[in-house]
Amino acid sequence: MRHWTLLGEAAIPGTEQSLALYRGKDDFFIKLTGKPSGGQELMNSRKHGSEDALGALPCQRLRNPDNARVLIGGLGMGFTLAAALEAVGPEAVVTVAELIPEVVEWNRGPLGECSGRPLDDPRTRIYLGDVAKLLRRSPQCFDAIALDVDNGPEGLTRNSNDWLYSYTGIAAAQKALRPGGVLAYWSAGPDRDFRDALRCCGLEVEEVMVYAHGKKGARHTLWLATG
Ligand SMILES: C[S@@+](CC[C@H](N)C(=O)[O-])C[C@H]1O[C@@H](n2cnc3c(N)ncnc32)[C@H](O)[C@@H]1O
Repeated sequence: MRHWTLLGEAAIPGTEQSLALYRGKDDFFIKLTGKPSGGQELMNSRKHGSEDALGALPCQRLRNPDNARVLIGGLGMGFTLAAALEAVGPEAVVTVAELIPEVVEWNRGPLGECSGRPLDDPRTRIYLGDVAKLLRRSPQCFDAIALDVDNGPEGLTRNSNDWLYSYTGIAAAQKALRPGGVLAYWSAGPDRDFRDALRCCGLEVEEVMVYAHGKKGARHTLWLATG
Protein backbone atom coordinates (compact mmCIF):
# COMPACT_ATOMS: atom_id res chain seq x y z
CA MET A 1 0.00 0.00 0.00
CA ARG A 2 1.21 3.52 -0.84
CA HIS A 3 1.75 5.76 2.21
CA TRP A 4 1.70 9.48 1.75
CA THR A 5 1.42 12.70 3.72
CA LEU A 6 -0.36 15.81 2.48
CA LEU A 7 2.11 18.73 2.70
CA GLY A 8 0.02 21.50 1.16
CA GLU A 9 -2.85 22.51 -1.09
CA ALA A 10 -3.19 25.48 -3.44
CA ALA A 11 -6.08 26.74 -5.56
CA ILE A 12 -5.41 27.04 -9.31
CA PRO A 13 -6.53 30.60 -10.23
CA GLY A 14 -9.46 30.78 -12.62
CA THR A 15 -10.54 27.16 -12.00
CA GLU A 16 -12.36 25.05 -9.42
CA GLN A 17 -9.34 22.80 -9.09
CA SER A 18 -6.42 22.74 -6.67
CA LEU A 19 -2.94 21.29 -6.58
CA ALA A 20 -2.13 19.03 -3.65
CA LEU A 21 1.49 18.26 -2.73
CA TYR A 22 2.19 14.90 -1.06
CA ARG A 23 5.32 13.28 0.31
CA GLY A 24 5.50 9.53 -0.30
CA LYS A 25 8.02 7.04 1.12
CA ASP A 26 10.80 8.14 -1.21
CA ASP A 27 9.17 10.65 -3.52
CA PHE A 28 6.98 13.74 -3.79
CA PHE A 29 3.95 13.97 -6.01
CA ILE A 30 1.46 16.65 -7.00
CA LYS A 31 -2.15 15.70 -7.67
CA LEU A 32 -5.06 17.64 -9.07
CA THR A 33 -8.09 17.86 -6.83
CA GLY A 34 -11.60 19.08 -7.71
CA LYS A 35 -13.51 18.83 -10.99
CA PRO A 36 -12.97 17.83 -13.77
CA SER A 37 -9.57 16.10 -13.39
CA GLY A 38 -9.53 15.43 -9.62
CA GLY A 39 -7.29 12.61 -8.45
CA GLN A 40 -4.99 12.75 -11.47
CA GLU A 41 -1.26 12.85 -10.70
CA LEU A 42 0.31 15.88 -12.40
CA MET A 43 3.92 15.27 -11.39
CA ASN A 44 6.08 12.76 -9.56
CA SER A 45 9.60 13.54 -8.40
CA ARG A 46 10.87 10.11 -9.56
CA LYS A 47 9.95 10.77 -13.19
CA HIS A 48 11.57 13.87 -14.60
CA GLY A 49 13.55 12.81 -17.69
CA SER A 50 11.39 14.88 -20.04
CA GLU A 51 11.29 17.90 -17.70
CA ASP A 52 15.13 17.81 -17.56
CA ALA A 53 15.31 17.61 -21.36
CA LEU A 54 12.93 20.55 -21.73
CA GLY A 55 15.36 22.73 -19.76
CA ALA A 56 18.59 21.40 -21.25
CA LEU A 57 17.90 20.93 -24.98
CA PRO A 58 16.92 24.51 -25.97
CA CYS A 59 19.88 25.96 -24.02
CA GLN A 60 22.32 23.45 -25.55
CA ARG A 61 21.23 24.61 -29.01
CA LEU A 62 22.15 28.26 -28.36
CA ARG A 63 25.23 29.75 -30.02
CA ASN A 64 26.19 31.50 -26.79
CA PRO A 65 24.69 29.82 -23.71
CA ASP A 66 27.22 31.55 -21.41
CA ASN A 67 25.17 34.71 -20.96
CA ALA A 68 21.81 33.50 -22.24
CA ARG A 69 18.49 34.95 -21.11
CA VAL A 70 16.11 32.05 -20.54
CA LEU A 71 12.41 31.88 -19.62
CA ILE A 72 10.89 28.77 -18.04
CA GLY A 73 7.09 28.67 -17.93
CA GLY A 74 5.90 26.68 -14.91
CA LEU A 75 8.12 25.90 -11.89
CA GLY A 76 6.41 22.63 -10.86
CA MET A 77 9.10 20.65 -9.03
CA GLY A 78 11.96 22.73 -10.44
CA PHE A 79 13.53 20.10 -12.73
CA THR A 80 13.29 22.15 -15.94
CA LEU A 81 14.71 25.20 -14.16
CA ALA A 82 17.59 23.14 -12.70
CA ALA A 83 18.43 21.60 -16.11
CA ALA A 84 18.43 25.03 -17.81
CA LEU A 85 20.75 26.43 -15.12
CA GLU A 86 23.08 23.47 -15.67
CA ALA A 87 23.18 24.13 -19.44
CA VAL A 88 23.99 27.86 -19.33
CA GLY A 89 26.96 29.84 -18.08
CA PRO A 90 27.76 32.02 -15.08
CA GLU A 91 26.51 35.26 -16.68
CA ALA A 92 23.16 33.79 -17.72
CA VAL A 93 19.81 34.73 -16.19
CA VAL A 94 16.99 32.19 -15.99
CA THR A 95 13.54 33.56 -15.20
CA VAL A 96 10.93 31.10 -14.00
CA ALA A 97 7.29 32.20 -14.29
CA GLU A 98 4.96 30.50 -11.80
CA LEU A 99 1.27 31.22 -11.41
CA ILE A 100 0.74 29.74 -7.94
CA PRO A 101 2.62 31.31 -5.01
CA GLU A 102 2.37 28.12 -2.93
CA VAL A 103 4.32 26.21 -5.60
CA VAL A 104 7.20 28.63 -5.07
CA GLU A 105 6.90 28.17 -1.28
CA TRP A 106 6.90 24.36 -1.67
CA ASN A 107 10.10 24.58 -3.70
CA ARG A 108 11.67 26.72 -1.01
CA GLY A 109 10.77 23.99 1.50
CA PRO A 110 11.38 20.22 1.46
CA LEU A 111 10.24 19.78 -2.18
CA GLY A 112 13.24 21.86 -3.32
CA GLU A 113 15.60 19.02 -2.33
CA CYS A 114 14.51 16.83 -5.24
CA SER A 115 15.74 19.22 -7.95
CA GLY A 116 18.78 20.56 -6.05
CA ARG A 117 17.20 23.85 -4.92
CA PRO A 118 17.45 25.80 -8.20
CA LEU A 119 15.59 28.77 -6.66
CA ASP A 120 18.69 29.42 -4.54
CA ASP A 121 20.88 29.82 -7.64
CA PRO A 122 21.90 33.51 -7.98
CA ARG A 123 21.11 33.35 -11.73
CA THR A 124 17.43 32.53 -11.02
CA ARG A 125 14.69 35.19 -11.17
CA ILE A 126 11.10 34.44 -10.17
CA TYR A 127 8.13 36.00 -11.95
CA LEU A 128 5.02 35.30 -9.89
CA GLY A 129 2.15 35.35 -12.36
CA ASP A 130 0.91 34.11 -15.71
CA VAL A 131 3.71 33.35 -18.16
CA ALA A 132 1.35 34.46 -20.98
CA LYS A 133 1.34 37.98 -19.54
CA LEU A 134 5.13 38.04 -19.30
CA LEU A 135 5.49 36.81 -22.90
CA ARG A 136 3.16 39.51 -24.22
CA ARG A 137 5.22 42.29 -22.67
CA SER A 138 8.71 40.93 -23.44
CA PRO A 139 9.56 41.48 -27.12
CA GLN A 140 13.00 40.09 -28.05
CA CYS A 141 13.92 39.40 -24.43
CA PHE A 142 14.84 35.70 -24.34
CA ASP A 143 17.32 33.39 -26.09
CA ALA A 144 15.40 30.31 -24.99
CA ILE A 145 11.83 29.82 -23.81
CA ALA A 146 10.66 26.48 -22.36
CA LEU A 147 6.96 26.07 -21.64
CA ASP A 148 5.45 23.36 -19.44
CA VAL A 149 2.42 24.87 -17.74
CA ASP A 150 0.00 22.02 -18.21
CA ASN A 151 -0.35 18.62 -19.82
CA GLY A 152 0.53 20.08 -23.22
CA PRO A 153 -1.71 21.59 -25.90
CA GLU A 154 -4.58 19.45 -24.53
CA GLY A 155 -4.45 21.10 -21.10
CA LEU A 156 -5.80 19.53 -17.92
CA THR A 157 -5.77 22.36 -15.47
CA ARG A 158 -6.65 25.80 -16.82
CA ASN A 159 -8.64 26.65 -19.96
CA SER A 160 -6.97 30.04 -20.21
CA ASN A 161 -3.65 28.26 -20.79
CA ASP A 162 -5.03 27.17 -24.19
CA TRP A 163 -4.01 30.62 -25.46
CA LEU A 164 -0.34 29.66 -25.11
CA TYR A 165 -0.85 26.89 -27.70
CA SER A 166 -2.95 29.00 -30.08
CA TYR A 167 -1.60 30.81 -33.14
CA THR A 168 -1.59 34.12 -31.24
CA GLY A 169 0.14 32.52 -28.26
CA ILE A 170 2.81 30.95 -30.45
CA ALA A 171 3.30 34.29 -32.24
CA ALA A 172 3.70 36.08 -28.89
CA ALA A 173 6.32 33.55 -27.78
CA GLN A 174 8.08 33.93 -31.14
CA LYS A 175 8.18 37.71 -30.67
CA ALA A 176 9.62 37.28 -27.18
CA LEU A 177 12.62 35.43 -28.66
CA ARG A 178 15.84 37.15 -29.60
CA PRO A 179 17.30 36.39 -33.05
CA GLY A 180 18.64 32.82 -33.09
CA GLY A 181 16.47 31.89 -30.11
CA VAL A 182 14.84 28.54 -29.37
CA LEU A 183 11.25 27.96 -28.30
CA ALA A 184 10.47 24.65 -26.56
CA TYR A 185 7.19 23.06 -25.49
CA TRP A 186 6.47 19.97 -23.34
CA SER A 187 3.51 17.68 -23.93
CA ALA A 188 2.33 14.41 -22.40
CA GLY A 189 2.05 13.01 -25.92
CA PRO A 190 2.27 13.80 -29.65
CA ASP A 191 -0.07 16.39 -31.13
CA ARG A 192 0.10 16.74 -34.90
CA ASP A 193 -2.19 19.80 -34.97
CA PHE A 194 0.03 21.71 -32.57
CA ARG A 195 3.21 20.74 -34.42
CA ASP A 196 1.58 21.94 -37.65
CA ALA A 197 0.52 25.19 -35.96
CA LEU A 198 4.17 25.84 -35.02
CA ARG A 199 5.16 25.25 -38.65
CA CYS A 200 2.34 27.50 -39.91
CA CYS A 201 3.85 30.27 -37.77
CA GLY A 202 7.02 29.94 -39.84
CA LEU A 203 9.03 27.98 -37.28
CA GLU A 204 11.33 25.07 -38.04
CA VAL A 205 10.26 22.29 -35.69
CA GLU A 206 12.11 19.32 -34.25
CA GLU A 207 9.96 16.78 -32.39
CA VAL A 208 11.76 14.79 -29.69
CA MET A 209 10.35 11.87 -27.68
CA VAL A 210 11.87 11.54 -24.21
CA TYR A 211 11.39 8.83 -21.57
CA ALA A 212 9.70 10.00 -18.39
CA HIS A 213 12.08 7.85 -16.35
CA GLY A 214 15.18 5.86 -17.34
CA LYS A 215 15.26 4.14 -20.73
CA LYS A 216 11.89 2.43 -20.98
CA GLY A 217 8.24 3.01 -20.29
CA ALA A 218 6.21 6.13 -21.02
CA ARG A 219 7.64 8.81 -23.28
CA HIS A 220 6.69 12.45 -23.54
CA THR A 221 6.92 14.83 -26.49
CA LEU A 222 9.04 17.96 -26.79
CA TRP A 223 8.99 20.41 -29.67
CA LEU A 224 12.04 22.58 -30.28
CA ALA A 225 11.19 25.43 -32.63
CA THR A 226 13.50 27.97 -34.24
CA GLY A 227 13.43 30.68 -36.88
C1 LIG B 1 3.63 20.36 -14.96
S1 LIG B 1 4.19 21.61 -13.90
C2 LIG B 1 5.77 22.06 -14.53
C3 LIG B 1 6.81 21.04 -14.25
C4 LIG B 1 8.21 21.55 -14.45
N1 LIG B 1 8.58 21.49 -15.85
C5 LIG B 1 9.22 20.79 -13.61
O1 LIG B 1 10.35 20.61 -14.06
O2 LIG B 1 8.90 20.37 -12.50
C6 LIG B 1 3.23 23.00 -14.40
C7 LIG B 1 3.50 24.23 -13.55
O3 LIG B 1 3.04 25.38 -14.28
C8 LIG B 1 2.34 26.24 -13.40
N2 LIG B 1 1.43 27.03 -14.24
C9 LIG B 1 0.24 26.67 -14.78
N3 LIG B 1 -0.24 27.63 -15.59
C10 LIG B 1 0.67 28.64 -15.57
C11 LIG B 1 0.75 29.92 -16.22
N4 LIG B 1 -0.19 30.31 -17.05
N5 LIG B 1 1.82 30.70 -15.95
C12 LIG B 1 2.80 30.28 -15.10
N6 LIG B 1 2.78 29.08 -14.47
C13 LIG B 1 1.75 28.27 -14.71
C14 LIG B 1 1.67 25.28 -12.44
O4 LIG B 1 1.29 25.92 -11.24
C15 LIG B 1 2.76 24.24 -12.22
O5 LIG B 1 3.64 24.62 -11.21
